[in-house]
Amino acid sequence: MSLSLENAVNQKVYAVFAKLGLDNKFANVKVSDRPDLSDFQCNGALALAKQERKNPREIATSIATELQNDADFAKVSVDGPGFLNLTLSNEFIAKNMQEMLQDDRLGIEKDKNPHKIVMDFGGPNVAKSLHVGHLRSAVVGEAIRRIEILVGNEVISDVHFGDWGTPMGMILSEIIRQDGNLAKVETYDIKQISSFYKQANIRCKEDESAKEQARIITTKIQDKVPEFYKAWQHLRKVSVEDVKKNYKELDAHFDLWLGESDAHETCKEVVKLAQEKGISEIDDGATIIRLDENKGQKPPVILVKSDGGFGYQLTDIATIKMRYDDLKAQEIIYVVDKRQSLHFEQVFEVAEKLNLAPQVKFLHIGFGTVNGSDGKPFKTRDGGVMNLEDLIKLSKDKVRESLPAPDEVEGNGEKEIEKMVDQIAMAAIKFQDLKNNIASGYVFELDDFAKFEGKTGPYIQYAVARINSILRKAKEKGLTPNKIEITTKDERDLALKIAQLNAAVARAQSEKEPSIITDYVYTLAQVFSSFYNTSPIMTAETNEIAQSRLALAKLVRDILVKLLYLLGIEAPEVMLKKA
Ligand code: ARG
Repeated sequence: MSLSLENAVNQKVYAVFAKLGLDNKFANVKVSDRPDLSDFQCNGALALAKQERKNPREIATSIATELQNDADFAKVSVDGPGFLNLTLSNEFIAKNMQEMLQDDRLGIEKDKNPHKIVMDFGGPNVAKSLHVGHLRSAVVGEAIRRIEILVGNEVISDVHFGDWGTPMGMILSEIIRQDGNLAKVETYDIKQISSFYKQANIRCKEDESAKEQARIITTKIQDKVPEFYKAWQHLRKVSVEDVKKNYKELDAHFDLWLGESDAHETCKEVVKLAQEKGISEIDDGATIIRLDENKGQKPPVILVKSDGGFGYQLTDIATIKMRYDDLKAQEIIYVVDKRQSLHFEQVFEVAEKLNLAPQVKFLHIGFGTVNGSDGKPFKTRDGGVMNLEDLIKLSKDKVRESLPAPDEVEGNGEKEIEKMVDQIAMAAIKFQDLKNNIASGYVFELDDFAKFEGKTGPYIQYAVARINSILRKAKEKGLTPNKIEITTKDERDLALKIAQLNAAVARAQSEKEPSIITDYVYTLAQVFSSFYNTSPIMTAETNEIAQSRLALAKLVRDILVKLLYLLGIEAPEVMLKKA
């Protein structure tokens, strides 16, 4: 596959600009705003004329005259003050569709400057089960990871475990308080550890001395005093195992399971470096870095707290150094709650001040919260924080309601139905999450998110299953996808929509916005649906038309499946629905 339709047209226009000696900065084409007039348009003649102080219509006409010699255009016209309207020949569109169908990448082009990205998402904490707030980081992060890989970038994903702060000391001191020592630590499972953490939390809120005790133990862990360090290792191990199960269910992939603790030695180096460079200062016993006022009024960054402990900011700063030195990152992307924006602005500024990762691009993709219908962060019925596991269970129960019972459908046992429940529930949760702009929060719509109609994950899965069924039935009649020919307006409209695939993926990648993909996937499914209503396949006038339409249908199916994959969603071969 050479080029997407849009870029093929682009190249033709570029060539004409070059031939005429025109500045090809203005040669860009875009999908036409007036589909009644043309498929693509190029408005560059207007700007070019301004720059060259020439007549825009004259320039546009000279370009049009050249393009008219190209048989791939059915019509080239100059309209208004100098707009170039371009309409492609049906043969050219059909040829492009055929190429897409034969290409594994479906014509999705690779980035011209592939680079290495470290992605930081997930961000779970030891001894805390994942809650609804962790959903977005995993779902959005995984989608962006898959999109970056598809366009040819190398991605290393790191979960960045929260495993080094005072909560660790709190848990161990609570265990000592109850057991007298740490002898039994290694027998505790995740439930017990989380419960110690909850109790510690309550105690530390009420009791200053408990807080102090927790701080002392945290320092002992950080100093690797054997008894405490070993106990901490157990906490971490058990938590990682638990969280891995959750991410497996969400199908979020992490190459590295590093945590804040792994940055400890580098934290020391960073503190030393800041002192040597004269960038840090001591303020009230703490080591801090003041930030440039002309870069906006930001509070100073605390590297080392007055009690000698390393804070959250320092670990992130040191982790940048490691990702640069050890992983050779060229870009670092964080997918973290947007309420941490200031934290990342501060961290990035310090990294630049200390020149820890020269030329590296930093990006914090800040997401909004998942809310309940009251507009506040989503809670359980009794007002508690919604666990991710409970949310997934809730969604599965909802989906199960709309599927037939195992004994109602032939050939599908409980296992098959349950697999489908999993796939549909995850599709519903993820699509609902990804169809919104990342930065805006959204309301978790318990009534609508798993419906088979409307802008939902299950609707797209259903569209895939429907095409699968068309292809199966056609095959039984001896009809298989074959040469694509564009003969009707509906075929043409569908093909032009299909041709927008590359642009949708490219935009989603450059804007880091998976909702561009959900929008495209939804419109494509709709356009296919209206195409199928007006353009029969099995009863088409000739076998050639039937097989051409089948090829278009297969192409749509392949695109939907690939895009669902980018969103972290599986497409079942068949979908059942309660009668
Ligand atoms: N564990 C942190 C939290 O729960 C999120 C970590 C985000 N990533 C990072 N590099 N700071 O708030």
